Amino acid sequence: MSSDSRSENRTRRAGAGGKKCPLRIGVYPGSFDPLTNGHLDIIRRASKLFDKLIVGVLVNDSKKNPLFTIEERAALIRKCIGGMPNVEVGTFSGLLVDFVKQHGAVAIVKGLRAVSDYEYELQMAALNKHIDGDIDTIFLMADVQNSFLSSSVVKELAWHGGSITGLVPKEIEQDIVDNIKKRRAEADN
Ligand SMILES: Nc1ncnc2c1ncn2[C@@H]1O[C@H](COP(=O)(O)OP(=O)(O)OP(=O)(O)O)[C@@H](O)[C@H]1O
Ligand SMILES: [Mg+2]
Repeated sequence: MSSDSRSENRTRRAGAGGKKCPLRIGVYPGSFDPLTNGHLDIIRRASKLFDKLIVGVLVNDSKKNPLFTIEERAALIRKCIGGMPNVEVGTFSGLLVDFVKQHGAVAIVKGLRAVSDYEYELQMAALNKHIDGDIDTIFLMADVQNSFLSSSVVKELAWHGGSITGLVPKEIEQDIVDNIKKRRAEADN
């Protein structure tokens, strides 16, 4: 893509004179192993705050033995964002701030479930601000009904044969159940 067309992709026409304005782009990062209804709620709400929202799937070295590969996680997210034309999915390793800058984004979006999220996220937001003072972090409070929900909880529940209906988007529920069954069979052998 030429730099001209790239900058065209990052502008929108606004105001009476149709003057070009920069697109407001946000990045919602996470490991999404797998996407839950809590994540999808944040994606939906953040997509209304930005012209374009990029869901950034992180290659997370600290979380060993992921259930899905990074490409599979991105594909599962794409299956669930059909009705949101301004949402894209990308993958990254390394510094979040570099990914944000590469895409010309102005803000990082995070979801907050509990005080425990807040303490960690406060530290990360301050660190990212230190690395690049132009990039802000925006926090969206978790919907009350999703406040207990995490990818880990979903995996744990499915591993022990519990139902994950209502906790993950229906488009990907069977993919998750099938993969957990496969992992269980491997573990039993
Ligand atoms: N239920 C939820 N409601 C709102 N935000 C959420 C929810 N679950 C996760 N988030 C937010 O989504 C982002 C990505 O989180 P992450 O990929 O760590 O998901 P997770 O569900 O916490 O998974 P894990 O159990 O592997 O840590 C973070 O900003 C996190 O706070
Ligand atoms: Mg987490």
